[in-house]
Amino acid sequence: MKHIIVTGGAGFIGSNFVHYVVNHHPDVHVTVLDKLTYAGNKENLAGLPEDRVKLVVGDIADTELVDRLVKETNAVIHYAAESHNDNSLKDPSPFVHTNIMGTYTLIEACRKYGVRYHHVSTDEVYGDLPLREDLPGHGEGPGEKFTAETPYNPSSPYSATKAGSDLLVKAWVRSFGLKATLSNCSNNYGPYQHIEKFIPRQITNVLAGIRPKLYGEGKNVRDWIHTNDHSSAVWAILTEGRIGETYLIGADGEENNKQVLELILELMGQPKDAYDQVTDRAGHDLRYAIDSTKLNEELGWKPAFTNFREGLADTIQWYTDHKEWWLVEKEAVEAKYAQNNQ
Ligand code: NAD
Ligand code: DAU
Repeated sequence: MKHIIVTGGAGFIGSNFVHYVVNHHPDVHVTVLDKLTYAGNKENLAGLPEDRVKLVVGDIADTELVDRLVKETNAVIHYAAESHNDNSLKDPSPFVHTNIMGTYTLIEACRKYGVRYHHVSTDEVYGDLPLREDLPGHGEGPGEKFTAETPYNPSSPYSATKAGSDLLVKAWVRSFGLKATLSNCSNNYGPYQHIEKFIPRQITNVLAGIRPKLYGEGKNVRDWIHTNDHSSAVWAILTEGRIGETYLIGADGEENNKQVLELILELMGQPKDAYDQVTDRAGHDLRYAIDSTKLNEELGWKPAFTNFREGLADTIQWYTDHKEWWLVEKEAVEAKYAQNNQ
């Protein structure tokens, strides 16, 4: 792994992975291939050594560009995506282009040059689960969390295109011998996450004097993992995972949205009820939960960030200290949500 390509490396999770590689693996050189959409930001890579990290601004669906870059690399770690469910409900077309056509373009090039490929995906491909209280084993019984054997059942245009991209990769492994692994991770939090997403939206709402916005009653459960733990897991799978296998990444971080919002308000010194309940998301998935036993037992991976309260407090501090990173976009992001009464 002397040279790797990280697609979407100027986004939230991709840039965290680039920092992780630079900090932990001094022999590795990284080319970031990123289109710098609204979600990509060069600043996410600021301070990284120029002799080890090169940014190429371009589209993962550009066959010529991808062919030229992939020819000269040892591995492609594919993070680039249109990643926000609410946007996919308004206009699915960029999701089909990037998530399906972009993935197709990358795996074709990796197949042509025999290059190792890792596919970064989401737990949302499995659809959703009932709430713990409605399950016989209260969320701990067989089949009550997602595993690599859970059937695909995506709900939104976003998750359907991610599911489609996973299936392309699995077919390329079986039919063409693509040297690929896949990972499906739960909800990430941490610095550099775009302010359209739940946690940074509410933190920056409080900082900007806007009341936080909870969809519906806030009973939907997400399984939170710190993005640094996602990065260490992807590295473990890339270097030690078995070709053709899917690994689920999670850190046992289930919380419902109301609990998360109340914790943000408490940590930011606000009254517990200082938020608005707004129009719910269409087709809103109820609960996600990851069983990461395979990753833990086979590759010995464990999360380092196991205290959500502390991780959230650090994240709040980061957004407080980096107003210049998000303030310029805040008004436009909120105006877009307001069109949906959200
Ligand atoms: P993000 O939206 O923050 O970043 C996406 C990046 O991809 C941006 O830098 C953007 O410029 C780039 N990009 C978009 N279209 C592109 C194109 N056509 N060509 C090149 N670059 C393009 O996303 P994120 O939250 O960091 O998610 C990264 C990956 O992780 C995605 O594949 C997502 O499905 C997956 N994932 C995310 C989460 C989560 O909680 N956010 C959880 C599990 C998996
Ligand atoms: O599970 C992994 C997925 O997590 C990733 O694949 C996606 O890329 C990532 O965006 C995330 O998807 P979610 O839809 O779960 O994340 P989001 O931050 O949009 O919303 C989290 C929860 O919070 C969800 O139940 C909707 C709710 N929500 C969201 C926003 C933006 C609110 O209640 N209020 C809000 O303002």
